[in-house]
Amino acid sequence: MSANPPAAVIVLAAGEGTRMKSKTPKVLHEICGRSLVGHVVSAARELGPEHLCVVVGHAREQVAAHLEEHYAGTRTAVQYEQNGTGHAVRMALEELGQVDGTVVVVCGDTPLLSGLTLGALAATHAADGNAVTVLTAEVPDATGYGRIVRDPATGAVTAIVEHKDATEEQRAVREINSGVFAFDGRLLADALGKVRTDNSQGEEYLTDVLGILREAGHRVGASVAGDHREILGINNRVQLSEARALLNRRLLERAMADGVTVVDPASVQVDVTVTFERDAVVHPGTQLLGATHVAEDAEVGPNTRLKDTKVGRGARVDNTVADSAEIGEGASVGPYAYLRPGTRLGVKSKIGTYVETKNATIGEGTKVPHLSYVGDATIGEFTNIGAASVFVNYDGEKKHHTTIGSHCKTGSDNMFVAPVTVGDGAYTAAGSVITKDVPAGALAVARGQQRNIEGWVARKRPGSAAAQAAATAAEEPGGEG
Ligand code: UD1
Ligand code: CA
Repeated sequence: MSANPPAAVIVLAAGEGTRMKSKTPKVLHEICGRSLVGHVVSAARELGPEHLCVVVGHAREQVAAHLEEHYAGTRTAVQYEQNGTGHAVRMALEELGQVDGTVVVVCGDTPLLSGLTLGALAATHAADGNAVTVLTAEVPDATGYGRIVRDPATGAVTAIVEHKDATEEQRAVREINSGVFAFDGRLLADALGKVRTDNSQGEEYLTDVLGILREAGHRVGASVAGDHREILGINNRVQLSEARALLNRRLLERAMADGVTVVDPASVQVDVTVTFERDAVVHPGTQLLGATHVAEDAEVGPNTRLKDTKVGRGARVDNTVADSAEIGEGASVGPYAYLRPGTRLGVKSKIGTYVETKNATIGEGTKVPHLSYVGDATIGEFTNIGAASVFVNYDGEKKHHTTIGSHCKTGSDNMFVAPVTVGDGAYTAAGSVITKDVPAGALAVARGQQRNIEGWVARKRPGSAAAQAAATAAEEPGGEG
């Protein structure tokens, strides 16, 4: 929270975002696990304003529902027709009533803007005693942005001219309006009443407030952003991808600064909500999403996607997809494992190659090394599940649970037909279909007896290579016959 919280922050999010060419409203598009408007609201919240108001219009039910779900306590003002940014702010002030003190206005499509930058703008505004302070930036390509017009003699900001309304000379200016302002609340309300619509878009431009205040003799200031990339406004999908790359890089650099090894940052994607401990290692081709946490000395990747998954200290997760799983300390997962929701892996347990788990609790030191499906199961400690086993949890109508004890050795190619229980220390024979409970310490054998029909090949496949091989084997010393 900043030292001098503004009276209000207004976020403009009523536009459709036509240039996105999307059925999703622009501000609900996501980067790094958060909507564009969500990023802006999060930054605004860092200022601790008295009021936080988002102006909604296009797809307003959808945008308002999103805000209610994820950012409870945010107010909304409706702008029924998108008559421009000035009109949008007017709608917010109607909703809020008279606001004394600083009002910060920010666009809902600038997701990289940090709370720090917003706070610095508000602080400059207050310290300089301005009526309005605009956040500007020097950009390599100013196309589409409003240009900052300065008095050639004094350097003072005199106006903002929209790209579409600008002269050739003005278009050559590379200092642009970020769309972020700090205003004196009362002066803002007055000036908005004087904004006209005689421009190329026939809209009420918020940017005109600046010239109006200046002509009325008020102090107008500008604060130049240190990093122009922070004010990147998203109007199309190319900019969306650019913003994602920049934010992703920022998140990974923060993790690296905190002691995480990211082998190849360009191929790793993280959400803003992902957390790490020091000496975690992220290998290439890895996506870490949602509330995923990677603990100390754990290694994830390559080619791994973890969503809402906790990776315990020193665990190893290789070529794996996991959703809402908990991986215990020192556990080993993959390569080629799929952990579905409700998977909880104990300390030093192992889920190996081509193994799928779901709603399964696997005890300390227990191993499911190869080619298996473990669904709706509880397995104790230090048990080994044989290769190619299936926990048959679905009878076509309901799901059932399987419980396997500690220190068991189940054979390869077992079917555990749930509901069924295997007691502690029990063994099961390879190829068994386990339909009945197995008592502790028993060996369960549930398969047909083997029968050898002697001489079958010679009688039924005479003259074949198999028959020839069998005859040769019979002649060898120690052979049959
Ligand atoms: C705006 C600024 C421009 C600045 C640029 C920075 C104006 C007139 N222009 O242009 O100077 O360089 O942002 O990115 O302010 N919105 C509403 N209601 C409306 C119109 C817009 O809520 O009636 C919202 C949009 O949802 C969006 C934001 O205001 O979040 C900016 O609108 P947009 O149409 O993207 O403005 P730009 O043309 O980018
Ligand atoms: Ca914009």
